[in-house]
Amino acid sequence: MSRAELRQLTEADLDAVLRIERAVYPFPWTFGNFHDSIVSGYHCLAYVEPAQPTADMYGYAIYMDGVEEAHLLNIAIQPDRQRQGLGRQLLHRVLERAAAGGAKRLLLEVRPSNIGALNLYRKEGFVELGVRRQYYPAGAAREDAIVMEKAW
Ligand SMILES: CC(C)(COP(=O)(O)OP(=O)(O)OC[C@H]1O[C@@H](n2cnc3c(N)ncnc32)[C@H](O)[C@@H]1OP(=O)(O)O)[C@@H](O)C(=O)NCCC(=O)NCCS
Repeated sequence: MSRAELRQLTEADLDAVLRIERAVYPFPWTFGNFHDSIVSGYHCLAYVEPAQPTADMYGYAIYMDGVEEAHLLNIAIQPDRQRQGLGRQLLHRVLERAAAGGAKRLLLEVRPSNIGALNLYRKEGFVELGVRRQYYPAGAAREDAIVMEKAW
């Protein structure tokens, strides 16, 4: 299993982040979405190769604080590093940090078509709270979002 280190994601990372984002999502976030997340003080975390001067970025996660809850806005692992346990590890790190920050649950939205992410969340104990209709862009139409939470 790959090992990785967590560090703060900065503007200097955004080229690498956008390369991953555009490779893994059909409707990727823009530079502005990531920039706004950083300047808004959201938790922006880079998951990188350990102990390398020019560390390869494996992935990233962005979440924001609410009242006794946290909201996961984005989590991604670069294509060459998927299915090696890194997504699960990164999600665990987010859960640990959110709990340490006082949250009692983590909320997220996921596309019903995103089977990989749905499997990950279900295996990690997330339950479905409901559906946000036509939440995501999906070409000419829109796609619903499943709202999930893990409470502790
Ligand atoms: C979702 C994502 C972060 C998972 O990262 P990952 O490193 O590949 O996941 P892991 O290797 O830790 O897998 C954990 C579990 O997720 C599930 N899973 C992950 N990818 C899967 C896939 N392609 N198909 C089916 N199940 C999958 C499996 O249940 C897996 O458990 P297993 O290895 O015991 O079978 C990654 O696929 C990704 O970056 N996807 C694109 C971005 C995205 O969709 N983010 C979520 C938005 S809501």
